[in-house]
Amino acid sequence: MKRREVLVGLAAAAAVAQGCAGQRSDPVRPSEPPPSPARFTDQIALPKPSVAGTVSLEDAIQRRRSVRTFRPDPLPVGTIGQLLWAGQGVTAPDGRRAAPSAGASYPLELYTVTAAEVMHYLPDGHRAETRATSDLRPQLKAAALDQASVGAAPLVIVVAAEPGRLSQRYGDRAGAYTDIEVGHAAQNIALQAVANGLASVPIAALDAPRTSMILGLPSGQTVVYLLPVGFAA
Ligand SMILES: Cc1cc2nc3c(=O)[nH]c(=O)nc-3n(C[C@H](O)[C@H](O)[C@H](O)COP(=O)(O)O)c2cc1C
Repeated sequence: MKRREVLVGLAAAAAVAQGCAGQRSDPVRPSEPPPSPARFTDQIALPKPSVAGTVSLEDAIQRRRSVRTFRPDPLPVGTIGQLLWAGQGVTAPDGRRAAPSAGASYPLELYTVTAAEVMHYLPDGHRAETRATSDLRPQLKAAALDQASVGAAPLVIVVAAEPGRLSQRYGDRAGAYTDIEVGHAAQNIALQAVANGLASVPIAALDAPRTSMILGLPSGQTVVYLLPVGFAA
């Protein structure tokens, strides 16, 4: 089934489950304003991630290089889901994830930016929710010192962080710990990309407040890394 079909199907199922209370034409609550165009509630269940790849870890480490030119071919939703799983997927019954986290606090959020939309990864249940339905890559590129890789890759994975989730427990170290976690997640994604025949580059030379604003991140969250991903040109 195509991804859009899955999305539409899930949206329909959700509407049924909620008794259609979320529809704009709901006669029970006529005065409720329509949803803001900046907020979406569409969710998709991502295809189950593979845990049996054909490229060895050693081979992926050996072959990983920062690549900055990509073919424009869009990536299948299953591949995008696999990359997200490598970065922050749930890998244990108690909710622990693919990358380590200080005190299992999980301050990271992953977003995907493609020509079609911006999605937010929901590790619980390996799902994603739509956050925007336009191509934000040109704006991201401009906010990342105009680096061509950001505008050219068919997929940009955004690693955002909310250090506040660590502050109470770790005080002054929250920021450093968060940045360390970003590195763990980004490396997992970079190696997963290689294992899937793809290439990537980690981009930290960016205007974080501007990038966060473009993506409409919730307050307290900030972009740390952009990972353009695609087939090497
Ligand atoms: C913290 C950090 C920030 C980076 N920022 C950028 C960047 O803004 N743009 C870019 O093209 N590469 C960036 N890189 C990639 C490095 O240039 C690259 O890792 C380095 O040249 C070594 O090459 P390799 O990754 O192929 O081993 C960054 C790497 C790291 C670790």
